[in-house]
Amino acid sequence: MQANKIDTATTPDKKIFVKTYGCQMNMYDSIKMQDLMSPYGYGTTDSMDDADMVVLNTCHIREKAAEKTYSELGRVRQLKESRKKEKRNLIIVVAGCVGQAEGDEIFSRAPFVDIVVGPQSYHNLPNLVASIAEGNKNLIELDFIEEEKFDKLPINTSPQGISACISVQEGCDKFCTFCVVPYTRGAEFSRPLEHVYREVLNATSQGAIEITLLGQNVNGYHGKSVDGNDIKFALLIESLAEIKSLQRIRYMTSHPIDMDDDLIKLHGTEQKLMPFLHLPIQSGSNRMLKAMNRGHTREEYLEIMDKLRLAREDIAISSDFIVGFPGETDEDFADTMNIVQHLKFAQCYSFKYSPRPGTPAATKDNQVPENIKNERLKILQDAINKHQLEYNISCVGKIMPVLFDREGKHQGQIIGKSPYMQSVHITNPDETLLGKIIDVRIKEGRASSLAGEVV
Ligand code: 5AD
Ligand code: SF4
Repeated sequence: MQANKIDTATTPDKKIFVKTYGCQMNMYDSIKMQDLMSPYGYGTTDSMDDADMVVLNTCHIREKAAEKTYSELGRVRQLKESRKKEKRNLIIVVAGCVGQAEGDEIFSRAPFVDIVVGPQSYHNLPNLVASIAEGNKNLIELDFIEEEKFDKLPINTSPQGISACISVQEGCDKFCTFCVVPYTRGAEFSRPLEHVYREVLNATSQGAIEITLLGQNVNGYHGKSVDGNDIKFALLIESLAEIKSLQRIRYMTSHPIDMDDDLIKLHGTEQKLMPFLHLPIQSGSNRMLKAMNRGHTREEYLEIMDKLRLAREDIAISSDFIVGFPGETDEDFADTMNIVQHLKFAQCYSFKYSPRPGTPAATKDNQVPENIKNERLKILQDAINKHQLEYNISCVGKIMPVLFDREGKHQGQIIGKSPYMQSVHITNPDETLLGKIIDVRIKEGRASSLAGEVV
């Protein structure tokens, strides 16, 4: 789909509203879409009612994603119709993984949608919008040309505050049998070191002191330096750590098979690298891990944990679990519970298996009944919640440097992030803490947060 170039001289009098579903990668893409449209006269708005352009940046990872998108589109359609009466247009865009997976089907079910773009082609949004303005209809762009996307996206993103997310790797070649990502995000692609470095420099010049490096398999990063050398993930982190004003580095999401010794060791030697790791295991049963095509065993995961603890004793670990994967028996589930009891994660995400169209596991005839999935999820979540609370209580009395990045819901409350990725709440501090890293004594450990006071 080739459309004419849009005129950048447009007066900045329009508004774009982006609704983001799903992961941090989507949030990053949403910011980029706003930045892409800004030179063409689109300011951002938090209210759909003010918008001239509505983007639903969708997620397809779990249940009913497409249905949720269609029902949200129903609401956007009403707005478009009321606009018509005022003789104003509303451009409706479906972006993200549902757009990629559903494709033209979106126009059949929601013909009032103007544009469908996939996660690898949204850099063409300005051209597509220009084409709509010329009277064209139902434009779709779902190509997978990653190099082109990152070359065309602006490196100088609008400020994200003191904690910024930067995409360094996209896509996935692992093909876990439950997952849509390899189909919606395409093959693994790593941005060149120089691109990432420039984007991080831009973020720090705008006040960021923490960055989170994003990727579907971020630790599988294998970019190139300007002189053509291969750069692995540990080296990328080391290079970024040289930026003086950058104080904290995080990354997500990682895969156990890319957790190499250099990266593990770096957790012990690079003080800017935060002592927290989100490392999904999905199941504690080797039989399930094989059926999921995870490429690692339970024992290999445990070995990584041992090495990590040797490198950095206090590292906090988080994970993802799926219960009720096709063929999961009571014994398999017991293996999952056993590893959870053994590792006592600092926090975890857990999901019922949801058959995703087009993935190998979805057509298996040994699907687990819904009531068993529900039972297992409850047992798993009770254990995970108990461990999270115990972990948070174990922090009471400790002094931690907390990065304060947002205001809380209650009057006088501000919230920050501990090195271990816990939310830390403070009420009525004497000084302005927002935007700073301050030592806090932890007074209380709660289910999903800590409360403390400035030392
Ligand atoms: N069903 C349930 N959970 C899933 N996830 C990915 N695909 C599915 C699915 N089909 C979970 C995995 C992954 C997280 C992002 O979402 O646990 O790590
Ligand atoms: Fe999905 Fe597996 Fe790739 Fe993660 S590693 S994105 S779970 S296919």
